[in-house]
Amino acid sequence: MARLLVCALSAAFALAAFPAGAAEKVKIGFISTLSGPNGVTGKEMLDGFKLGITDAHGKFGGRDVDLVTGDDQGKPDVGVEVARKLLDKDKVELVTGVVLSNILLAVSNVVLPKHVILISLNAGASDLAGRECSPYFFNVSFQNDSVPEAMGANLQEKGLKHVYLLAPNYAAGRDMLNGFKRTYKGSIVGEVYTQMNQLDFAAELSAIQAAKPEAVFIFYPGSMGINFIRQYAEWGLKAQIPLYATTFTMDQTLLPAMGNDAIGIMNSGFWSESLDNPENRVFVERFEAEFKRIPSAFAATAYDGARLIDAAMRATGGRIDSADAFRKALEAAKFASVRGHFRFNTNHFPIQDYYLFQVEKGPSGELVDTMRERIFSNRPDSYVSECKMK
Ligand code: BEZ
Repeated sequence: MARLLVCALSAAFALAAFPAGAAEKVKIGFISTLSGPNGVTGKEMLDGFKLGITDAHGKFGGRDVDLVTGDDQGKPDVGVEVARKLLDKDKVELVTGVVLSNILLAVSNVVLPKHVILISLNAGASDLAGRECSPYFFNVSFQNDSVPEAMGANLQEKGLKHVYLLAPNYAAGRDMLNGFKRTYKGSIVGEVYTQMNQLDFAAELSAIQAAKPEAVFIFYPGSMGINFIRQYAEWGLKAQIPLYATTFTMDQTLLPAMGNDAIGIMNSGFWSESLDNPENRVFVERFEAEFKRIPSAFAATAYDGARLIDAAMRATGGRIDSADAFRKALEAAKFASVRGHFRFNTNHFPIQDYYLFQVEKGPSGELVDTMRERIFSNRPDSYVSECKMK
């Protein structure tokens, strides 16, 4: 009898010490574009996230991490299938990743109604920052409009009068050009939306040549960015019309393929390998040691995402089975961001600094995106007032 009582008490003690769901591995679903023209970007994000897990000793909040990955192939319908599989078959407790905004919007319709936490490590679609914000959605990177808002403000300050804009025709492309137009008050002499994944820009370059703008501003991530930058130089336009970009075109996943065609191009962003703060210096060194290349912003935000989840899970004793308790832990989580300043706004998007960067040759001949000046400090996104968090 006494033995039975001891057994029962030990079982009760074990349950109290490791509440249900906290003792096992934590299954994290990671959706990313791992193939196609944005495959390099998705792979980079996955590497950054994995490094974050490694640096947390393989554990989030004390629980071993079981990372289940899925390739959305750059297609929203595939992203939806991947999300359903992660939730229904793999039974993940949280979903993260996501490079492209059109995929984020599709995936959010599957994940959020189930009250499962979704954390975007890149895509920052405006709908999710404003009208469609959700208590269960967090963005750890940026809101799409914010990065070009910084460039628009900078060109406005420089007094440029006529600018020509180009972006791919999808959710993020439209956000990016809207962001630029919000802060730039001069004349927009062209606003062109090209097909997603278009790689030949001859028609657009010919139109730019004819329009003779004072400057061109682009948002082209992935292979689109490499081709645009190369063709802009091949056509002789680089020497005639200054080209400005977002950091997503001039980042370390693309710079080696652009070579000298990238040198001198100014771009706006929230992070580069040149940001001088202690966490960033350690992160860049760790990433280079692990992957033998310089990290990009996609890896940096994914690394921050891993540290955010770990910090929040530590606060809940490893539990994420109550989405409402866990979202409060995410809102309050303190982690040392590689960006320096970072905190969540009420819509769960970052309040952070934005900078002007410029591509130049580094000390060993490699291309680096060097910080020139801070454009915005502690900047909230432009949709937060539309978010009625319910
Ligand atoms: C997006 O689709 O949201 C996105 C993709 C690449 C860079 C930045 C944003």
